[in-house]
Amino acid sequence: MNSNTQSAQDLLQLAWQAQSTGQLDRAAEIYRKALDLEETAPSWLGLGQCHLERKDPSAALAAFRRAQALMPQSGAIRHMVDMLEGSRVPDRAPDDYVVWVFDGHAESFEAHLAALNYRGPQMVAGLAEGIWAKDGSRAILDLGCGTGLNAPIFRPYAQRLDGVDLAPRMLQQASRRGGYDHLYKAEAHAFLRRPPCRYDVVLATDVFIYIGQLDEIFSLSEQYLNKNGELLFTVELTAGAQPVELRSSGRFRQTDTYIRMLAERTGFAVAATHDEALRVENGVPEAGRAYRLVRR
Ligand SMILES: C[S@@+](CC[C@H](N)C(=O)[O-])C[C@H]1O[C@@H](n2cnc3c(N)ncnc32)[C@H](O)[C@@H]1O
Repeated sequence: MNSNTQSAQDLLQLAWQAQSTGQLDRAAEIYRKALDLEETAPSWLGLGQCHLERKDPSAALAAFRRAQALMPQSGAIRHMVDMLEGSRVPDRAPDDYVVWVFDGHAESFEAHLAALNYRGPQMVAGLAEGIWAKDGSRAILDLGCGTGLNAPIFRPYAQRLDGVDLAPRMLQQASRRGGYDHLYKAEAHAFLRRPPCRYDVVLATDVFIYIGQLDEIFSLSEQYLNKNGELLFTVELTAGAQPVELRSSGRFRQTDTYIRMLAERTGFAVAATHDEALRVENGVPEAGRAYRLVRR
């Protein structure tokens, strides 16, 4: 390693520190110095993030494209280019993007969600309340379980409660919280293709914002759910012309028409829905809808 590379890496560390403490101008300046010494994907990525946080998406896109040229195999960078270009809607966020986003924030995730008045688990729980007996009889799969916010709410209904997530540090938090019988590190589709047992309920709160196209999740769930099995989930709702949108936040939104069409096609009936602000970001409520689908 030559001395330029060494000092570019030192600068990168300094820039990360500045960025993580909100000193965006200073961080951007240090990233530029690092790039003068050596062009690397992490420095372009960091600079792009600074631009994004400073609400300058075109400068962010230019920086992410430079990162992509240096690291064309990265799904995470491709996703960031896609979300800002707006010309391509991929089926889902790539695994490395999801792990990068969530492992980076696993320790502060719940405090952050509480500040946003996040309501996903309560929204789906409201659809089960009064209909399901709290008799501990159900086998429930919590897809994209994150830090396990669903565990205390759904444990009383469950004879078996399993969680699946891609991000190891989110799973560590879920394990610390407790309440699950098994926690699996896996991608949702991969898990559903070979589940360890049949479930009565597949639960997914705030996960389909990272999985845009839901056809395979619905059909796999239908295949492995028991008779009268249920799919409970939330989406960020759009009334747009496209069934699925990728937003500049990197998250997906679906239309109600799309969800209902898929439900019909994959053998589910829409038993109930509930509308509520999923969270409030920068003072703006995020329109959310919770669905309870029952296998026909
Ligand atoms: C916004 S968090 C929601 C966590 C939890 N369900 C809740 O309501 O608090 C989204 C979670 O889904 C996971 N995730 C996203 N895409 C996934 C995928 N394709 N397979 C498995 N987990 C995924 C992320 O790692 C993250 O923990």
